[in-house]
Amino acid sequence: MAFTGELARYGARVSLAPEDETGLLDLPAVLAGLPSGTLVYCCGPGPLLDAVEERCPPGVLRVERFRPKERPAGAGNAFEVVLSRSGRTLTVTPDVSVLDAVRGAGVEVLYSCTEGTCGTCETDVLEGEPDHRDSLLTEEERARGETMLICVSRCRGRRLVLDL
Ligand code: FES
Repeated sequence: MAFTGELARYGARVSLAPEDETGLLDLPAVLAGLPSGTLVYCCGPGPLLDAVEERCPPGVLRVERFRPKERPAGAGNAFEVVLSRSGRTLTVTPDVSVLDAVRGAGVEVLYSCTEGTCGTCETDVLEGEPDHRDSLLTEEERARGETMLICVSRCRGRRLVLDL
């Protein structure tokens, strides 16, 4: 709503649906028959994001969350992280995040939220299988396992090699 004035130049291509005037969005209608190649961008309360996520075909949705998704708190495990640029190997203990282990070793990495929602800490995975615990990557990105958000995600096995 803050950009209503700016969006006015797009005329009928923009629809506004304030809940206090039109009620809850009719998501099935809004998301029905999206032309091929359409991307859906959504931010807002968690229940809205979850409802949109349920109804969007794979690969279509991009969300911005302000709180992490509820995820079962999997037990932390210990594993090794190899920093490919220096060849150093770190042990990530169950009570420490990969981000904290890397920072603790004196390696500079970008981060912000530390709860898996912003994407700032996204890091390329060169070997190993990430245990994704973030609220940002799409299911396709998780399945590819090429990147991970090191502030919350861990390792499914004993070893990860990261592009750090
Ligand atoms: S620091 Fe925000 S997702 Fe990792």
